[in-house]
Amino acid sequence: MRPANESFDFVIIGSGIAGLFTAIKLAENGRVAVLSKQDLIAGNTFFAQGGIAAAFSKEDSPSLHLEDTWKAGACSGDRKAIAVLVEEAPERIQDLLAMGIDFDRRNGLIDLGQEGAHSRKRILHIGGDATGRELVEALLLRAKSKGVIFIEDALAEEMIIKGGQCRGLIYRMGNQRLAMLARAVILASGGCGQIFKCTTNSPAVTGDGLAMAYKAGAVLRDLEYFQFHPTVLFPPQGSPFLISEAVRGEGAYLVNADGERFMKRYHPLAELGPRDVVSRAILAEQLRTGKEVCLDLRHLGSSFVEKRFPTISSRCREWGYDLERDCIPVSPAAHYLIGGIAVDLDGRTAVENLFAVGEVASTGVHGANRLASNSLLEGLVFGCRVALAAAAVKAPEYPEYSDDLEKGKGLKREAGAAEEQLCRQIRPLLQDLMWEHAGLVRTAAGLQEAREKIKSWWKILAYDFTETELTETQNMLLVAAMMVESALARRESRGCHYREDYPDLDPDLGKTHICFQAGGETVGEGTIAYPQPFFME
Ligand code: FAD
Ligand code: SIN
Repeated sequence: MRPANESFDFVIIGSGIAGLFTAIKLAENGRVAVLSKQDLIAGNTFFAQGGIAAAFSKEDSPSLHLEDTWKAGACSGDRKAIAVLVEEAPERIQDLLAMGIDFDRRNGLIDLGQEGAHSRKRILHIGGDATGRELVEALLLRAKSKGVIFIEDALAEEMIIKGGQCRGLIYRMGNQRLAMLARAVILASGGCGQIFKCTTNSPAVTGDGLAMAYKAGAVLRDLEYFQFHPTVLFPPQGSPFLISEAVRGEGAYLVNADGERFMKRYHPLAELGPRDVVSRAILAEQLRTGKEVCLDLRHLGSSFVEKRFPTISSRCREWGYDLERDCIPVSPAAHYLIGGIAVDLDGRTAVENLFAVGEVASTGVHGANRLASNSLLEGLVFGCRVALAAAAVKAPEYPEYSDDLEKGKGLKREAGAAEEQLCRQIRPLLQDLMWEHAGLVRTAAGLQEAREKIKSWWKILAYDFTETELTETQNMLLVAAMMVESALARRESRGCHYREDYPDLDPDLGKTHICFQAGGETVGEGTIAYPQPFFME
């Protein structure tokens, strides 16, 4: 059992690539604790398949990587942030190599894969399609060897804010509510894919960090930009399973019910067009033919496919697909949150001593759509920068004991069986609602319907739940409300945000960010006012 009040120099929420890499880089500057609400492999990193993008060949350069990232983001990203990402990428890959992490090789050289909208082969991968799993395992070992303390099954709930500064957090383990004080708190808690019914995301990815940061006074922005991945297999049992874009990068085709390779009709890059275009094309073909769309790998040869994509091959086999004989039915699913907590180039949020990194953060590198395999890279590059900035935060005079646990008590209403039941019912309804009205194709009417429904559920935010799943649902509801408001406010189509009623890009909105910031709520605040968007250049 952990003490009710504990102090560390740095607390990191999340044990994905962003949290682990930041922890390793910070470990020499003080005591580091990493919290994960489940086990240490929870989150999306473990499931990453395609790999990490970096300009690593003679034919490539950071400036080509920059242009590809910029164009994939619908020319809406922050070029300074993109420059940081692509220029520091090779150095961060060298860090991994120096840690003993090796990437797949062909003829002795690192084997670089191809993915959509990359003008060069630049995707480094491990174990074929097991990049995420291999990375998490290696980084965990490294962090442990550097003395990082890991705390599992610890659900971070609220930031402790004093005098406008973040001084720690409140978290829950089982029935116990505990406080942890720190010089700096780093949110590396991932995105929010679970707010949608159909998603590639791990069950742990419920937007908690976004909700906590908002309540602590940080700025959230660009939440209307959520990326959908086109090729996801929905097996008869179990969770949706991603079929990596790298499969199309190696030459797999998308075919409709007539056996036609239809993507050529939708985009000059065919199967390697932007994810939103490929996703909508699949939906259109499904609707037109009334039948499924499939991914065809048969011509690639079974020995190559087995070696290059061992995880995908074995999972497909489990579900009865023989990749030499069968095509795989695929459909789009919610994949990646592009917006997030607004941060500067060192991961600082609007709240002093509170940092954010990885999918939860909005650095501006992805613009309105993300280039494949830039996300793991973002965790490395900005994890390193956050570690440097957090290390420079001065240690405050710690009080012997934090009174926040007492202060928080009683501000929220204790939930009874009726509220618990309501909250339990809301989660699947919210996921359906978001999938239907805030998914790949959006309209004002659908978004307004979503807004009204969300408002009718708003009252559950006033209650204190002691079950993780119910606290997560509260967070999902808050994040969904902000996503719907942003999607309504952006009356144009840009990158992965597609409005059927405003199908064109509005050049005047190129620099506009839709943002949210709550008015100084702190630990224990009960009802949260329905979030109002504001616009920033
Ligand atoms: P995550 O890896 O999602 O980790 C989040 C962590 O936060 C977890 O440890 C979780 O337990 C913890 N957490 C969350 N809330 C709380 C809380 N309240 N309290 C305590 N802990 C909490 N990107 C690429 O660049 N290349 C790829 O090949 C690739 N493939 C992908 C394949 C799949 C199937 C998916 C879903 C995504 C893929 N992506 C890929 C995207 C990429 O994997 C993620 O964006 C990235 O891994 C996010 O890393 P992260 O560290 O920010 O968060
Ligand atoms: C994939 O392997 O298709 C996912 C890559 C990504 O999301 O960057």
